[in-house]
Amino acid sequence: MNATNASQSSEGVIAQLKNRFEQALIAAFGEDLAGADPMLVPTSNPKFGDYQSNAPLALAKRLGKAPRAIAEELIQQLDVSDVCLPPAIAGAGFINFTLKPEYLAARLSAFQIDDRLGVEAVKKPKRTIVDFSSPNIAKEMHVGHLRSTIIGDCIARILEFQGHEVLRLNHVGDWGTQFGMLITYLREVCPEALTTADALDLGDLVAFYKKAKQRFDEDPDFQEKSRHEVVRLQSGAEDTLRAWNLLCEQSRKEFQVIYNLLDICITERGESFYNSLLASVVEDLEKVGLLVEDQGAKCVFLEGFQNREGQPLPLIIQKSDGGYNYATTDLAAIRYRIQQDQAKRLIYVTDAGQANHFAQVFQVARRAGWIPEDVDIEHVQFGLVQGEDGKKLKTRSGDTIRLRDLLDEAVDRARADLEARLQEEGRQETEEFIANAAQIVGISAVKYADLSQNRTSNYIFSYDKMLALQGNTAPYMLYAYVRVQGISRKGEIDFQNLGSDAKILLHEETELTLAKHLLQLEDALDQVGQDLFPNRLCQYLFELSQKFNQFYDRCPVLQAEDSIKTSRLMLCDLTARTLKLGLSLLGIRVLERM
Ligand code: ARG
Repeated sequence: MNATNASQSSEGVIAQLKNRFEQALIAAFGEDLAGADPMLVPTSNPKFGDYQSNAPLALAKRLGKAPRAIAEELIQQLDVSDVCLPPAIAGAGFINFTLKPEYLAARLSAFQIDDRLGVEAVKKPKRTIVDFSSPNIAKEMHVGHLRSTIIGDCIARILEFQGHEVLRLNHVGDWGTQFGMLITYLREVCPEALTTADALDLGDLVAFYKKAKQRFDEDPDFQEKSRHEVVRLQSGAEDTLRAWNLLCEQSRKEFQVIYNLLDICITERGESFYNSLLASVVEDLEKVGLLVEDQGAKCVFLEGFQNREGQPLPLIIQKSDGGYNYATTDLAAIRYRIQQDQAKRLIYVTDAGQANHFAQVFQVARRAGWIPEDVDIEHVQFGLVQGEDGKKLKTRSGDTIRLRDLLDEAVDRARADLEARLQEEGRQETEEFIANAAQIVGISAVKYADLSQNRTSNYIFSYDKMLALQGNTAPYMLYAYVRVQGISRKGEIDFQNLGSDAKILLHEETELTLAKHLLQLEDALDQVGQDLFPNRLCQYLFELSQKFNQFYDRCPVLQAEDSIKTSRLMLCDLTARTLKLGLSLLGIRVLERM
């Protein structure tokens, strides 16, 4: 890229600077340096400029020169005059970059007619599978599944926005031994259900499951029948399949209620889907010589996983009774996703408790040669949701919380907060307004509380914290958006019609700081697209609202003289649009008033 068109390019700032940096490295030190990492990051302190490279320090050994000397030579070759003020060398040999106000203003002005706010679609879209949510039929859909649902949906939204082709898959547990007991129990309590549709209202399937499990635990005869039922299911016996379908339908309806509440789009492709492919997993592992028979079971001995005696741990692929495991299904799924779906990136979103499972399955698939070099496979893991007592989240009476109740309570509390505020402010609003606002605030609060945490840590579920109007919360973010809309209402401004010659002018410190941040959306999304930590996007948006508030406190908008007023209105509008877009990628809808 040449120096004249930088302000028209919508490449992220970091990508743009990296590009120039790589050229300078080659110009200064030869082709050998092609591909060397420019080590460019946003600075932690504005007194070091906006971006910093510590490549000169990293390259000192390799080039046999002092870092500061390397920095000098680099700067001479570096052509960034259209983007930055002259780069400065600092400390032991850092290079600091400060963006030019004209560059910032030109880039941001172009966002005025750009719905993507400068975020370019990726040049090489990857077909990606996000395996998330994935609850188990007839078992509780618990807060772990809630986290997977929220995080997985957010990751899918971001990758889709970046231009990747994403397949969202719900790997529901619809094919386990639990069906043996369920169906045996069904035969006992309502045999008609096996032959006629709607003969039985299964009501709460989880309660039904508990009763079946109880029978299983206390009655050996029932156990025997259940095992037999699993075999019949796996061999496709018609009446058993009918019963199985009935159970799945019931669960599906219950899951859908949650997905509707959370605005989740996902395609069900449960474990049963891979049933016919399991035998060939065994055969093919056998062919590549990985399969070992151990006490009647067929297993692969793992590298790097040992039992207490230091012996390699086996991953059981087929049990001695011929049955298959959770891992076998995942092996079949990996092959299907790579070969049939042609996916180049496989993402699995589950709790950290499954880290070993995925590491083992990935290892076996890799050793079997099923994962080509150009395919990435990643377990996106997350920590536990805890109650305010730091223990597993429970109801007051000690039961597990139903997700439905948890979400309803968030909405009820959001409503109570809103009604109190309306009363305080003496405002009258329609029931429709209140219900809609409570719904959006309540659900957003739950999502945001989850996404804003570093996903690998445990987090404490607190309605009070997540619904607070202050702090890194959904209500705070939604309110920042509403605040800007308030400006346009108050000044009777149509943000879409600020005039074709409207220009951004950056004079005040807070304007510059805000402008720089507005330009970092693409870098923030790039980061999340790579390492799949949604909290980085939350942090970006939180800082954006803080920087906006600082700007708005210092710089009069509606009272400013004309050209400055237009420029500031543009900054307000860009902030609002960035918030709206960013929140939508978190799965959160904004309100125009609240
Ligand atoms: N059903 C599993 C559970 O509830 C999660 C499945 C995750 N996806 C996968 N491909 N294993 O723990």
